[in-house]
Amino acid sequence: MCGIVGYIGENSSKEILLNGLAELEYRGYDSAGIAVLADDSIFHSKAVGKLANLRDKTKDFEVNGFSIGIGHTRWATHGNPTELNAHPHLGEFSYVVHNGIIENYKEIKDSLMSEGVKFLSQTDTEVIVHLFEKNYKEIKDEFEAFKKTLKSLKGAYAILLITKSQNNKIFFAKNGSPMIIGTNSNELFFASSDAPLLGLANEVVYLEDGEYGYALCDEINLFKDEEKVDIQKNPLVGDKISAQKGGFRFFMEKEIYEQSEVLSDCILGRAMDERVDFEELDENFFDDITHIKICACGTSYHSALATSYLFERVAKISTNVEIASEFRYKEPLLTKETLFIVISQSGETADTLEALKMAKKAGLKTLSICNVDNSSIVREADFSILARAGIEKGVASTKAFATQVMVLWMLALYIAEHKKVISKENLASELKAIKHIPKLCVVKDSLHQKIRRLSKRYLHGHGFFFIGRDIFFPLALEGALKLKEISYLHAEGYPAGEMKHGPIALADANLFTVALMPKSLHYEKTKSNVEELSARDATILAISPEEFDLADDFIKTTSCEHPMEEFFEMMVITQILALEISIRLGNDVDMPRNLAKSVTVE
Ligand code: AGP
Repeated sequence: MCGIVGYIGENSSKEILLNGLAELEYRGYDSAGIAVLADDSIFHSKAVGKLANLRDKTKDFEVNGFSIGIGHTRWATHGNPTELNAHPHLGEFSYVVHNGIIENYKEIKDSLMSEGVKFLSQTDTEVIVHLFEKNYKEIKDEFEAFKKTLKSLKGAYAILLITKSQNNKIFFAKNGSPMIIGTNSNELFFASSDAPLLGLANEVVYLEDGEYGYALCDEINLFKDEEKVDIQKNPLVGDKISAQKGGFRFFMEKEIYEQSEVLSDCILGRAMDERVDFEELDENFFDDITHIKICACGTSYHSALATSYLFERVAKISTNVEIASEFRYKEPLLTKETLFIVISQSGETADTLEALKMAKKAGLKTLSICNVDNSSIVREADFSILARAGIEKGVASTKAFATQVMVLWMLALYIAEHKKVISKENLASELKAIKHIPKLCVVKDSLHQKIRRLSKRYLHGHGFFFIGRDIFFPLALEGALKLKEISYLHAEGYPAGEMKHGPIALADANLFTVALMPKSLHYEKTKSNVEELSARDATILAISPEEFDLADDFIKTTSCEHPMEEFFEMMVITQILALEISIRLGNDVDMPRNLAKSVTVE
């Protein structure tokens, strides 16, 4: 998601900001911008696309001597990736950059507009700078005005604000989005992660949620709940690559750990208290739609398959899911009342893109759920919803899958509400479960250690079966795919109830069965299927909130009421299992053999 940098000092702030943004490129972005305040003059520039465009636009700008500056890479959430929507956003005499989502921006914007404030962008962020200036005009004190502004904001943010009336200070706030302050003897830096600070700062201050304040080149004033906070400085150590990996061994591991945070981003401003809101869709989006067809490949196909159960069960709309490479050549019968959804992490998968073109040609309404804005699939589809997983580097998809499932689940609720087939109470309890998911996806150290220890028992054998029922069957498919992609061991996902129709013939002590046994959905039935395998001496790794005597190994999960809560918790476990087995086998986890992150060939 978005990246933020800031600088106060005597060196070239332009270069420091641009280099800092380059270090944050891995977070993903579609536009970028900087604002530099030297004496009383402000320079600012924004550009759509790669940073090279911003570099080019700013090539004639030089700053000598002391200056302060802020910079931003934007991953579009509210409004298209355009220059006007890029940050910094400006008021009459102040500039702001922001990472996160201001959930109540519409109310603030309406009220400011009714007082005559003019808005240039479609973003939620712009309200911050106008609100600050309005408060400043009333209070005549920059910091008090900034604090008053923060009190009006709901949602997640990391904010940097500069104003002409205080040309040596940066005002900052953090709540739910990352922000770090770096220092050396005579300069001060802000960044969304360590990477831009390496080689520049000696010490860092990791800000906590709810903290805010203002900084000068040699002074940090930090507050929480109106109380001054003592500054805890930590030495800055590490190299650039490991900074990008955030101390994790592999990007895939980091991405598994990031799931909690990106899922929070994914639901922000969408899962409200009593309804689901997709600003990407218009009111009449589902009028005349009687059927949904979802097309995707690999992991994205699994997210579609899992949530197809929800479209039928919750939204009461007939739904079928197809593998894009199969769909293309089957001469499908397409009817105009069908909403055609494509799912893709990269937005460039050739088979999915071609399937989308076919559907469009047949006159169907199309919707893409994608993690990369401006990708070919996003450009081709009539409507798009971004998954907001941030850039995913590991070839084996993890956090993109998690956010795809989340978007599709919210979409099922959105349709259910639109078709009036869900009661207020049920919708509220679904939304409560959605909001609980980020917490369930936090990886506990004890869980990771347990899986690491356990993984040494699963390095041989003649294959794995991941089994589950209902939505846990597609999760079993995904668990098996993760394992084979990075361990090169043979693994299959299978419906638990289908094992007896053939695959059970393979059962012996060297057949490893990973059994997904949720308590909230068909527990007894799945248990019977696992017992059948155990009776044939298969080695069973059971994942369940219920103790299971016949398991050779057991991973206990939380007892949750909603099956999707169990789904997300088990998803994390299967991902870590694949990761640890692959690491023990000495494989390149992030770049497994024969695979590519973006499959742009047929
Ligand atoms: C996931 O781990 C895989 N690398 C692969 O199956 C992937 O999901 C598939 O190629 C589809 O990619 P997409 O989501 O970018 O369209």
